[in-house]
Amino acid sequence: MNINELIRPGLAAMKGYAAIEPVEILEQRIGRRIIKLDGNENPYGCSPKVYQALSDYSYYHIYPDPEQRILRRALEEYTGLSFEHIVCGNGSDELIDLILRLFLQPGDEVINCPPTFGMYPVSTDVCGGKVVDVSRDENFAVDIPGIKRALNEKTKVIFIASPNNPTGNVIPEREVIELVGTGRIVVVDEAYFEFSNMTIAKLVLEHPNLVVLRTFSKWAGLAGLRIGYGIFPIEIAEYLMKIKPPYNINVAAQAAVLASLADIDYLRSNVAKITAERERLFAKLGELEWLKPYPSQANFILCSLNWQSEVSPGCHSEERSDEESPAKQAWRQLRKKGIFVRYYDSPGLENCLRISVGKPEDTDALIKALKEIC
Ligand SMILES: Cc1ncc(COP(=O)(O)O)c(C=O)c1O
Repeated sequence: MNINELIRPGLAAMKGYAAIEPVEILEQRIGRRIIKLDGNENPYGCSPKVYQALSDYSYYHIYPDPEQRILRRALEEYTGLSFEHIVCGNGSDELIDLILRLFLQPGDEVINCPPTFGMYPVSTDVCGGKVVDVSRDENFAVDIPGIKRALNEKTKVIFIASPNNPTGNVIPEREVIELVGTGRIVVVDEAYFEFSNMTIAKLVLEHPNLVVLRTFSKWAGLAGLRIGYGIFPIEIAEYLMKIKPPYNINVAAQAAVLASLADIDYLRSNVAKITAERERLFAKLGELEWLKPYPSQANFILCSLNWQSEVSPGCHSEERSDEESPAKQAWRQLRKKGIFVRYYDSPGLENCLRISVGKPEDTDALIKALKEIC
């Protein structure tokens, strides 16, 4: 029996999402503690109140609320929008998938603006859609005229991450409004909103085809508990509540969100530490002449590498190879030193590293290591 013949044809050859590896696996592999700057996770972890809430909770044996009532009500104050506009997901990843399931028929098109977050094309493929790439320009701005040219009767959804992962820049509000004017479903993914303080969430009230996604993974340090939410026009929210798996938010995630919202000043002070450290990291990276950091409104910094330029003294050039890109070599050598960052070699991101903002001591260790390997 050939199982491949039974697999949906579009999925058999699909590449899948290139996910990062968890900290336990990495530490086991290299046999010591690591500095993990590859997942845009929060270096300060979650609120201490989350640990308390998880140990106090006494209904783990009972299914969660399929209507997410307590959670959606709790998010009213944080978002400034009423609960009817809010739907929670098992990470915002799940909401990306649900939105596509709601709107796509086989062969329908989805506009993706690379370089950007890799789940938009993966989920489009899984949902039987066709990804139409409209690349960002050399400054990573969204190509609005290019998107308009790419539209046809099959175009259903446009994804824009703002701040964008991995480039760190935001889309201006007037451009979002222009995209909304195309009549397609426009998804503005604000996974990193708390680090930029820029949001277009309130526009959802005025536009029936605009959706905003958020997550607790980054600013609140809850990536491992998988909890995101979207702000939707009420009509779309109602459909999503109908098609989502009934118990998609587990009770631990719910307890963690409530505890996080009850400790918001603490979490905001961590966000402030991270954004201050982002600026220090940016300045330090900029001092290395073979590396160009791009300004970021998120909790990571994209850098392109240029080892052709004059290099600083003490350079270990014998460690270099012509077969691998400089970014891959830097990535590999940093790993050897226990520092994990993300490297890219895709169109528009040739020879790039993305470095998540860590604690000040992580920045110091990273800069020292980069100086040693250059
Ligand atoms: C732009 C963007 N959207 C969504 C996500 C996924 O977030 P979550 O952990 O809530 O699934 C990420 C995670 O890296 C991201 O970068």
